Amino acid sequence: MKPTILVSGGAGFIGSNFVLQWRRNARGKVINLDKLTYAGNLRNLASLADDGEHEFVQGDICDPTLVNELFRKHTPCAIVHFAAESHVDRSILGPDDFIRTNVNGTFCLLEAARAYWTALTDHDRPNFRFLHVSTDEVYGSLGADDSPFCETTAYAPNSPYSASKAASDHLVRAYHHTYGLPTVTTNCSNNYGPYQFPEKLIPLMILNARQGKALPVYGDGMNVRDWLYVEDHCDAIRTVLAGGKPGETYNIGGWNEKPNLEIVETICSILDELCPHDPVLPHRNLLAFVKDRPGHDRRYAMDARKIERELGWKPKETFETGIRKTIEWYLHNEEWVKEVTAGSYRQWIASQYAT
Ligand code: NAD
Ligand code: TYD
Repeated sequence: MKPTILVSGGAGFIGSNFVLQWRRNARGKVINLDKLTYAGNLRNLASLADDGEHEFVQGDICDPTLVNELFRKHTPCAIVHFAAESHVDRSILGPDDFIRTNVNGTFCLLEAARAYWTALTDHDRPNFRFLHVSTDEVYGSLGADDSPFCETTAYAPNSPYSASKAASDHLVRAYHHTYGLPTVTTNCSNNYGPYQFPEKLIPLMILNARQGKALPVYGDGMNVRDWLYVEDHCDAIRTVLAGGKPGETYNIGGWNEKPNLEIVETICSILDELCPHDPVLPHRNLLAFVKDRPGHDRRYAMDARKIERELGWKPKETFETGIRKTIEWYLHNEEWVKEVTAGSYRQWIASQYAT
């Protein structure tokens, strides 16, 4: 096995941050398999254009011939599996792709990994890792006074997205339990940071506020998420890859629970300061309460003590520094924004926020 890793979904938000961080730390070759759906963007990886240790392959994780070939050709020491359909609202409007990619795609990767791993030498077999990147949403919704989710919390997914991720987590678990495949699963809370597609709360609010468009807050705005800066998530994944125990799962979170309304108001205040010439000021005048998401989970919160206790990871970024960095990134990357907000993005916004 080479110190090469196979990454799936490495042109998406978290995957591209992970690949960039991995190569910045010069940790060995990356084979980056991504289908380039609406959420995948090669521009995220532009700084790696001259990096001979990054190889991009456009393809589908549901394609067994391709996936088997990548394992055979590159003999990776690990696969880090990010590829997924990841947006809850899209899963409500059209769940098919979520089942296909998140469930069948993960199954396809597991089968290819199992065949490859079985054929490794006795020396290499224990060192291989299948790292599955998952979400806190598989645990369902918390009440205001409930303790945060821990690794033993029962699964109770509520959206087609979280149900498809839960199914993939179960498959990963089964491949360890039944076949002994050295898997590790990470369940992380909501991420924010550079390169996030502006269908998600934070980048959507930044871009709408700049253009003087309504800031659509679902329901009463008091749904709570536990926000983590994306670089911290990537760092946690590297930590689990290096030291996580096969068969284990690790919860990752920011210890940073906030209601959506507070997030939107914070973005507005920072933009008031950084963009005093925007069309509508103060930006909070754009706040608009809109109809709630069906089945909207009320609260997520992660108990991330296991990864801290066993592997020594904890988040470095505070929300205050992370959100400011994120806003500045969107302000300084207008070309990226222009590109991703063209075409099919406009159709999505028009249909999602029609009423
Ligand atoms: P994203 O939607 O930004 O990116 C997904 C990437 O996967 C895209 O590049 C897309 O082109 C690729 N992809 C989709 N279907 C594919 C297929 N069939 N074959 C190959 N590539 C395909 O998602 P993200 O926010 O970066 O999330 C990455 C992973 O992290 C997902 O598994 C998600 O469930 C998980 N996660 C996300 C968050 C979050 O807050 N964004 C939090 C916890 C966990
Ligand atoms: P999102 O970024 O879609 O992540 P997730 O649903 O995976 O947590 O949404 C974060 C929170 O923000 C969630 O409670 C839904 C809410 N939200 C809005 O209020 N308005 C919006 O336009 C969007 C996209 C999300």
